[in-house]
Amino acid sequence: MKSKILVTGGLGFIGSHTVVALQEQGFDVVIIDNLSNSSIDVLAGITKITNKTPDFENIDLRDKEAVVNFFEKYSDIGGVIHFAASKAVGESVENPLLYYENNLNTLIYLLQELSKKDQSNFIFSSSCTVYGQADELPISENAPVKKAESPYGNTKQIGEEIIQDTCKVYSNLKAISLRYFNPIGAHPSAEIGELPIGTPQNLVPFITQTAIGKREQLSVFGDDYPTPDGTCIRDYIHVMDLANAHVIALKRLLEVQLENNYEVFNLGTGKGNSVLEVIQSFERTSGKKLKYKIVGRREGDITAAYADTNKANNVLKWRAERSLDEALASAWKWEQKVTKQEKEA
Ligand code: WQD
Repeated sequence: MKSKILVTGGLGFIGSHTVVALQEQGFDVVIIDNLSNSSIDVLAGITKITNKTPDFENIDLRDKEAVVNFFEKYSDIGGVIHFAASKAVGESVENPLLYYENNLNTLIYLLQELSKKDQSNFIFSSSCTVYGQADELPISENAPVKKAESPYGNTKQIGEEIIQDTCKVYSNLKAISLRYFNPIGAHPSAEIGELPIGTPQNLVPFITQTAIGKREQLSVFGDDYPTPDGTCIRDYIHVMDLANAHVIALKRLLEVQLENNYEVFNLGTGKGNSVLEVIQSFERTSGKKLKYKIVGRREGDITAAYADTNKANNVLKWRAERSLDEALASAWKWEQKVTKQEKEA
């Protein structure tokens, strides 16, 4: 029987794009999602793109019994890509226990079931947040992991350690942690994309919602940083490039022995862009003039982060191919589609 790939959080932003990439590469997918930060409509969007509807289980991974029952029902899971987690930095500061329970208990329950199987392959959705403000740029995987600036970032650091310790003991478990920089954009079909609930915390969805008229104007959080134009620098990577990297990493787990059964890769473009450069790129690609104002710095923001992509390029044989302009154009096309559907509803 052909094994299935479990994608937890598979109706989320990066998860849904990864499900599309997996299906297009011939994998059978089952999604677990508790719909706490996503919509069941995303399943239809995935099907429209690939003409294949993944299996779907509405499970909250905090329910240990439900996790055990899932693996009894799906005994043919060949790999797991684990996206399901809470990811709002600010919310994690106000509600740390929600983040430690939702991001760590769920990981432990999954690993407990995987450690019982003959061979398990596990990909963990991690984040460049683990580096904090790195001392050197670009940031390589050898950069020191620093004291996290938020409980959210801490759950990514602790999560990586839990996985590494488990892989050391269980020779039947292999894992890769993928440290994302800043995922943006949407599938070119505009059938799936980013669906922030409430006021967007991240830059690009706030830009597109401002341009479409949902938000009055964008607040740029500080222009007094030690950067060329004073605004923070980030490595914005197209979500489609990110999705492809997950498929390549999964194939690596299925085909290759790893030292200590565990590896880490940074996933970025290797290029840093400032907030003002992102605004200029958006205006260029959308033809829209964006209304924004410079305000004070946001608590917890770091000055600059962009990836050293050598390890992913050389070991995974993966490279980000899409430009910032392409990513912003796809985000804008998606925003226009979503807003049109909202008005027609
Ligand atoms: C980018 C830049 C802001 C909004 C966070 C998490 C990271 C990952 C991605 C989950 C910063 C500026 C933003 C706005 C602004 N999340 N900005 N006005 O903070 O780099 O990363 O999201 O995995 O883990 O830490 O992304 O998009 O929030 O901010 O000026 O309305 O845009 O100050 O410089 P960030 P972001």
